[in-house]
Amino acid sequence: MPPVRIRDGIFWIGVNDRTTDLFEGLWPITPGGVSYNAYLVRGERTAVVDLAKAIKVDEFLDQVAAVAEPRSLDCVVINHMEPDHSGLLRTLLRIAPQVTILGTDKTVALLDSFYGIRRNVRAVADGEVLSLGNRSLRFFSTPFVHWPETMMTLEESERVLFSCDAFGGYGALRGGVFDDQCPDLAGYEEEALRYYVNIVAKFSPMVLKAIAKLTEVRVDVVAPSHGLIWRKDPGRIVGLYERWARYAREAGDPGVTLLYGSMYGNTEAVMNAVAQGVSAEGVPVEIFDVTRAHVSYILPSLWIRSGVLIGAPTYEAGLFPPVAHVLDMAGRKAVRTKKVARFGSYGWSGGAQRELERWFETLRWDQVLEPFEFVGAPSDADLERGERFGRKFARALWGKEEAP
Ligand code: FEO
Repeated sequence: MPPVRIRDGIFWIGVNDRTTDLFEGLWPITPGGVSYNAYLVRGERTAVVDLAKAIKVDEFLDQVAAVAEPRSLDCVVINHMEPDHSGLLRTLLRIAPQVTILGTDKTVALLDSFYGIRRNVRAVADGEVLSLGNRSLRFFSTPFVHWPETMMTLEESERVLFSCDAFGGYGALRGGVFDDQCPDLAGYEEEALRYYVNIVAKFSPMVLKAIAKLTEVRVDVVAPSHGLIWRKDPGRIVGLYERWARYAREAGDPGVTLLYGSMYGNTEAVMNAVAQGVSAEGVPVEIFDVTRAHVSYILPSLWIRSGVLIGAPTYEAGLFPPVAHVLDMAGRKAVRTKKVARFGSYGWSGGAQRELERWFETLRWDQVLEPFEFVGAPSDADLERGERFGRKFARALWGKEEAP
């Protein structure tokens, strides 16, 4: 995509990535892709703000050249060192060795350890203003949104905030780069939530700190380094991030994430009965077969919903392994304040529940019902009990009395 003018003298010069399968080598992003948004601010002096992953090198350099002569660039602002935003730095330096690289003091060390870059590097202070002559950039230290060195940059005359990972989302840009050009904003926001939970959620307290810091300044355009640029309604994405960050400490929305795994369909049969019970109480339920659904898609549901039901059989005297994987990832992403209960089959000895209770302790999830275990294939009575189990759990979420 050629450069896009955001405001006078401010351009998007990013690249789309529709070929990387796994973001961070971990999170599926096909077929929607992702964008690495870079920006160029042209004043009497010229700055590039963030770069891109080391792909599409010619395309990126052509975009710089379409707006400014690369050899005349004055500085490159590295808001965040993760290589999806800094990977092109060494290539750019070969063409524009005169540039000064700006970042926080922690960025200076990371530039050395990641790229061996020590020359023409300068640390900027929190709140420092850099004059580009007829315009200026102001830097805000926002550590751990997403790495410790992270900062944001505000172009002060047009009030464009280059926020890097914050306020970003998955999805390559589809022609239009702005929120008012997006044909499916609800779909974009769903993917932005997945991005948030996959990448940023662990650092939610720092997201809230960063948002509080931004209330000191007026921002007209939010220009993150992934996904849409928000010029029509910048408050919308900031508000969404604030809401998502609050889930780290607060109970989620009333609703159930139902995780299940089933080797031969026995736990699945009871899962369907349990789901019927939950639904009969009017509580929304989202169901994931943990063997087949990637955890990237499960985590957002866990993050925003208050209840978790786990249908897991015993496997070799322990927990069905794909369930353990999801719980491990939930722990790594600091998914807290959940009410939980478990059902599942066993063949002879059991063992899944013992292992699960260790997980609940680690996760600090509140087990609100005794587990419902059955032997082998469920009987009709087991299915009826499963339905009642689902009702009881839904009522526990609502804080109602137990089902009869
Ligand atoms: Fe988009 Fe933390 O890098």
